[in-house]
Amino acid sequence: MFKVAVIGASGLLGRALVRELDAETGWQVVQTAHSRVGPRQVALDVRDAQAVAAFVAREAPDAIVIAAAERRPDVCEHDPAAARALNVDAVRSIATAAKARGAWVLSISTDYVFDGTQPPYLPDAAPNPLNAYGHSKLEGERALLDASDDALVLRLPLLYGPIVDWNESAVTSLVPAIRAAAATAHAAAKPAPMDAWATRYPTFTPDVAVVIRELLTRCADGEAVRGIAQWSGDEPMTKYDIAQRIARALGIEAQLIAQTQPTDATPRPRDCHLDSGRLEALGIGRRTPFDAGIGAVLDAFEREHADKN
Ligand SMILES: NC(=O)c1ccc[n+]([C@@H]2O[C@H](COP(=O)([O-])OP(=O)(O)OC[C@H]3O[C@@H](n4cnc5c(N)ncnc54)[C@H](OP(=O)(O)O)[C@@H]3O)[C@@H](O)[C@H]2O)c1
Repeated sequence: MFKVAVIGASGLLGRALVRELDAETGWQVVQTAHSRVGPRQVALDVRDAQAVAAFVAREAPDAIVIAAAERRPDVCEHDPAAARALNVDAVRSIATAAKARGAWVLSISTDYVFDGTQPPYLPDAAPNPLNAYGHSKLEGERALLDASDDALVLRLPLLYGPIVDWNESAVTSLVPAIRAAAATAHAAAKPAPMDAWATRYPTFTPDVAVVIRELLTRCADGEAVRGIAQWSGDEPMTKYDIAQRIARALGIEAQLIAQTQPTDATPRPRDCHLDSGRLEALGIGRRTPFDAGIGAVLDAFEREHADKN
């Protein structure tokens, strides 16, 4: 039976992928996690190259998906060595172990490998990262493709999807400020500044999970896709636009202030729209409209929260 290892199955994207593979395939799925190890998961610190090699040799997967990373740009900026250990060195050791086993390996990368000045970006456009996160992910891409030629980089933009806390995604992390920006019977509104400078393409993790499942199917059929591919939602919006849509979905009148100049301490690109044409040409992909996706995420989170109270 086809066997897939999902490295970083406890994260935002890893969870969506495992859910998709469990629901839609009969494959054997082995999951790893680090600080949040669930009952079906193997504890693995991907910074430990020996442990990675032992895991891959023991489990003998046919394909490996790397969703473990340090994905927070501010954390990467402050500790580039820690970012490198996860986003570069760990990718290299997983890819080396995958090659020794003969497994296809897919590693997730980011639109932040580009500088955001000339969208849309094809997979072979010249990268030029502006911050430490983008640098580490670009080096990780190179480490992957150097270590194995049976490998695929999948670049993705801003992600959102089912969450366990608001801060898991830069989309849902806006919710507390949006809520506070609406007047209630008990509190006055606290107007919320929102970035209206950078254009983002929020992409729903269950859609990315479909893309990865379809790529894994190609691998299982002996038609593995290799090199660099990209997937992106197709609705451009700033965080200000995202906040307006979230407020609408929550049914609140929030006082949002559009910030037309960047204010982040970490430099960020303006518009890194990723061209998804390579995967579209293969008939791969699904796009859930943002309003439907965010509505489902907010409903599910609030329901779970209400159940616990
Ligand atoms: N989120 C976005 O908006 C976005 C956008 C573009 C690209 N990406 C890329 O998409 C991928 C998935 O991101 P995500 O948002 O799902 O990240 P996430 O929610 O932060 O999850 C990170 C995962 O990495 C694991 N991990 C952290 N340190 C580890 C270690 N030392 N050893 C083993 N595993 C470790 C975590 O495990 P524990 O939680 O168990 O510690 C978790 O499963 C990353 O490559 C990211 O760069 C994300």
